[in-house]
Amino acid sequence: MIITKLDIETIRQDFPILKRKVNGYPLVYLDNAATSQTPKQVIDVIVDYYTRYNANIHRGVHTLSQEATDAYENARIKVQNHINAVEPYEIIFTSGTTDSINLVANGFASFLKKGDELLVSAMEHHSNIVPWQMLCERTGAILKVIPMNLEGELLIEEYAKLLSSSTKLVVCNHVSNALGTINPIEKIISLAHEVGAAVLIDGAQAAPHIKIDVQKLNVDFYTISAHKICGPTGVGILYGKEEWLAKLPPYQGGGEMIAEVTFEKTTYADLPHKFEAGTPNICGGIAFGAALDYMNSLGYEAIASYEKGLLAYATKELTLIEGLKIYGTSEHKTSVISFNVKGIHPYDIGTILDKLGIAVRTGHHCAQPVMDYFKVPGTVRASFSFYNTKNEVDILVEGVKKTIQMLS
Ligand code: ALA
Repeated sequence: MIITKLDIETIRQDFPILKRKVNGYPLVYLDNAATSQTPKQVIDVIVDYYTRYNANIHRGVHTLSQEATDAYENARIKVQNHINAVEPYEIIFTSGTTDSINLVANGFASFLKKGDELLVSAMEHHSNIVPWQMLCERTGAILKVIPMNLEGELLIEEYAKLLSSSTKLVVCNHVSNALGTINPIEKIISLAHEVGAAVLIDGAQAAPHIKIDVQKLNVDFYTISAHKICGPTGVGILYGKEEWLAKLPPYQGGGEMIAEVTFEKTTYADLPHKFEAGTPNICGGIAFGAALDYMNSLGYEAIASYEKGLLAYATKELTLIEGLKIYGTSEHKTSVISFNVKGIHPYDIGTILDKLGIAVRTGHHCAQPVMDYFKVPGTVRASFSFYNTKNEVDILVEGVKKTIQMLS
């Protein structure tokens, strides 16, 4: 494997926002797990769309509509190639991971009966818990939880014991947003398939760091949000194996998703349009394609190797701070560090860091069961991207030390 080294200072020039000052300090943006920043290569694509060819797609004979349709469908092919899906129509554009999960949860009702079981991991984001609870309420299916340990790792032996012929679906994140753990999804998927269960993987936190190959994973459903991966907000995808998408009923009714409508009966469009009712986020989809081009121009091996170095350095430096505890200590992690300092509320740390121009997320990170497991109300979460630097880690560490001095 050839890993080209990233030229971070040049890469940082691609991100206009990184030149900003916040509260008089240079911005140190460490909230990448919430949303990543946008390079000018993607911003330019958005500006170009609205400047030259803004039009509705799949509907008009006119030139602008055809150009927009071509660009949007080309973006679908970029996503297909990026995750190595077999067909472009296995890529459904959605508004993001939450929407993608709800699409599957809604349709899966027709495959379930009372007493069927769904397994969900203990470290899920609320968006990969609540839709399944709602589905269970509708169908009488039972939700069971795959437990984890204090390192923030799933207990795969316990998972294997939970699987049975009653298990119809297993849902799990590829990477935990709250802890950064990279879950062994290959194993999770193959064990589920042994009992005939389908698997949905929430890839929102993995896609910025890991190159995904849905064929190699043999996953049934996989979700991605563009805004975590240098693209815009309000757009993402659901990948589904053709066999699953073909039998899953439509999610929303409306224009675009139909073959023919009469008051007596409506027939539905073929994939992927069956799941794409209404005018989509056209510009967002096109910009998502541009974001993938950008990520691939840097190369995932290089990104992963650089971020691994940042994670190791930040972990080492933060651990030296007295009273600081890190949650999520698996060896298999992306560049996310969740921590607390003894006696100080995470919100207070986040507020003072912001005064110093440092952006982190504080709170339960939409993963309250994870916080409950660790018996904390929330954590401070610093999440690093490939455009962050060692110097920014030092600024964070100094900021945390300063906060402790001020508050103790
Ligand atoms: N899911 C996003 C996060 O973890 C918003 O911050």
